[in-house]
Amino acid sequence: MSDLVLGIESSCDETAAAVVRAGREVRSNVVVSQAALHAEFGGVVPEVAGRSHLEAIGGVIDRALDEAGATLDDIAAVAVTTRPGLIGSLLVGVSAAKALAWTRGLPLVDVHHIEAHVHAATMESPEEVRFPCVALVVSGGHTALYDVQSPLEMELIVSTLDDAAGEAFDKVAWILGLSYPGGPSISALAAQGDPAAIRFPRYSPKTPHGGAAGPKPVGFSFSGLKTAVLYHVRGGDALQPTPPPDRIPDRADIAASFQEAVCETLVIQTLRAAEQRGARQVLVAGGVACNQRLRALMTERAVANGVHAFFPSPSYCTDNAVMIAGLGWERLRAGRTADLGLDAAPR
Ligand code: KG4
Ligand code: ZN
Repeated sequence: MSDLVLGIESSCDETAAAVVRAGREVRSNVVVSQAALHAEFGGVVPEVAGRSHLEAIGGVIDRALDEAGATLDDIAAVAVTTRPGLIGSLLVGVSAAKALAWTRGLPLVDVHHIEAHVHAATMESPEEVRFPCVALVVSGGHTALYDVQSPLEMELIVSTLDDAAGEAFDKVAWILGLSYPGGPSISALAAQGDPAAIRFPRYSPKTPHGGAAGPKPVGFSFSGLKTAVLYHVRGGDALQPTPPPDRIPDRADIAASFQEAVCETLVIQTLRAAEQRGARQVLVAGGVACNQRLRALMTERAVANGVHAFFPSPSYCTDNAVMIAGLGWERLRAGRTADLGLDAAPR
């Protein structure tokens, strides 16, 4: 049997396909981003995303096969993201994968997008990862901690109460008049600002009444931080209108102080979860894991706690199909395939 898996990813605003050999060797990695389409709205517009996937998906799969020097005859299985994500976007990838599996008689493998983000952190150096470990998945749609027992077994510890960290970057970028996606544009501006200029809040969940003796609770919330930025640009008066970006004098300091607050919150909560579980490693995955300040702060504080922090290469942090094909291979080997009744789900 061939050991090439074709991975397909269309859960949000990237149409992606990749061919990976034996879950490890990347033969092709094609990602077509819709970011420019959504830029004028400051975030992803679901219907625009679904239609754009529909236009792109055939060409993206063809390119992934071509660049891998393969045809469908060489493929052992088709792996596809089925959840979570925008339903209209997911359905495009799932329909394409089903059509290929049906016409070619290939096994179909369903992949959970967040589990695939975590898997991306282990794919590049699997021998260095010691399970169990704690994973932080931090992107535009998700901010959550997982207890990872193996590539195939992970359990949610806690998820954000409201906004995802990437969503907070995108919304604050909108307030500051920066381009979408907000993460890269905020971190570029933050390089010229002072991260200590403004003390924005770092969320930490409250200890329940009577629970003072137990472990500190772990959790995330970013909507309060986003509101704090909004009130700051309104001069501390919530009733004032938001000024146009060119009338915000301390934009670089706001960007740097906001980025510092997000990163510190992510680091504190992740290392607290790792400590409580006795994990010696943390994996950080998802688009926000590209952030250089998050990488530096997590690495520095993890070392101080005797913990090793792992990050995928930036191109495997944001949405891609290499991680889908990689985890798809593990699931195929474990016999976890799907039938043609396979459905997609937003959560
Ligand atoms: O994983 P991803 O590509 O898509 C989702 O599954 O959401 O993550 C996209 C998110 C966006 O919110 C973007 O602003 C954020 O990742 N992001 C960053 C950086 N690069 C991308 N956030 C902070 N710093 C970055 N350098
Ligand atoms: Zn993602």
